[in-house]
Amino acid sequence: MTEKSPLVFPRGFVWGAATAAYQVEGAAKADGRGESIWDRFSHTKGNILNDDNGDVACDHYHRFADDVAMMKDMGLRAYRFSISWPRVMPHGRGSINWLGLDFYDRLVDALLSVGIEPYATLYHWDLPESLQEIGGWTNRDVTGYFADYAAVMAKRLGDRVKNWMTINEPWVVAVHGNLLGDMAPGYRDKSTAIKVGHNLLVGHGRALETIKHSRPDAKVGITLSLSPVEPETDAEDDRRIAEHRYQISAGWFLNPLLTGAYPSECYPEFGEAISVIHPGDMALISRRMDFLGVQYYFRVVTGKRGDVKKVSGSKYTEMGWEVCPSALERLLVRMNQDYDLPPIFITENGAAFDDKVSKDGHVHDPERIEYLREHLHAVYRALKQNVPLKGYFAWSLLDNFEWAFGYSKRFGIVYVDYKTQKRIIKDSGHWYSRVSRRGELELT
Ligand code: FCB
Repeated sequence: MTEKSPLVFPRGFVWGAATAAYQVEGAAKADGRGESIWDRFSHTKGNILNDDNGDVACDHYHRFADDVAMMKDMGLRAYRFSISWPRVMPHGRGSINWLGLDFYDRLVDALLSVGIEPYATLYHWDLPESLQEIGGWTNRDVTGYFADYAAVMAKRLGDRVKNWMTINEPWVVAVHGNLLGDMAPGYRDKSTAIKVGHNLLVGHGRALETIKHSRPDAKVGITLSLSPVEPETDAEDDRRIAEHRYQISAGWFLNPLLTGAYPSECYPEFGEAISVIHPGDMALISRRMDFLGVQYYFRVVTGKRGDVKKVSGSKYTEMGWEVCPSALERLLVRMNQDYDLPPIFITENGAAFDDKVSKDGHVHDPERIEYLREHLHAVYRALKQNVPLKGYFAWSLLDNFEWAFGYSKRFGIVYVDYKTQKRIIKDSGHWYSRVSRRGELELT
């Protein structure tokens, strides 16, 4: 395939940037916001690097108007943000916090007034602590409370917000939150993780139904973190191990959503947790979505010798994640062969590097520009192979609270000075702004 630079993306391709409530909003106690599992987790000593927390973060709650104006100046066409459930419903069910709801109202109006399309995520990991106290996502009732909360949001914002994401990255919630314990709520139990994973999917299905019921014109999807798993060598054993691993990680969520069944490889892993699956669940989970959000950061390379820590010749980001844009292309093309895909958005993709403000006051981040360019190139190649890609959201608009890593990892295309809350558009932000405005990608 010969490609002439610039690569021209289809008209209407959505160019955006993403954030999540707990990572940027701050204002943890403002205007009646309730406690979330991430407040509790980050305030428990030893859980987060440097004992950082999201109390202030980027203070986006108070600075959203400036942030929206900046996005406008950057020529962004879409903003993916998440709604903090405990800001809107402090205990996760029952009473509504109108002041919290007003914040999202103002944010959405500000975005629309400058022509930026809002993409709202309902659950980006900040479960109300009160719901954790009744078992969190292991308690099936929570899936119903989630749908009720979705209904509140659809009612209030659905006249203006047309794109909704239910759950962000159920695999991460299940595995990091409940099996590895390095994310909230911090459990280490396989059976809990599997139950949580399933109930997140049930919650997704219920929320999708609720939103569609009250807003038939709404587009509803879910976002999945997807790492292709590739064999270290071409040997049969390595390929078998990699494929098995792909099915029990990516397949664990892709299959039920897109085919209505877990991959056969998952059942032996489920053990007694299988009881979490109720009659009718799989039909609910696999209700046709309007789109699927793919979040790609790295691939996994594995085989009979275990996971490869460093692939020779590969670059790595500050997170220690391998930079491998071609694996994104392979992932998307494979998904398109394996499933009858709905429209696909890349709802997150980006990289952390050790950014510094230079003497000239700018933030020069050539590695991030290269990262974004190469991944967008991979997206373009997948498009040319008929993957139904509709948009791309850079992670992240702002440097922010990177969960267990606190403020030590900077993913933004905009630098945040946490002492002054000053924003500096990084070189990558200026670069991305040109791509977004033109809808074209220069390869050099
Ligand atoms: C994803 C999360 C997002 C951010 C990036 C780096 O897994 O959805 O909030 O932390 O990783």
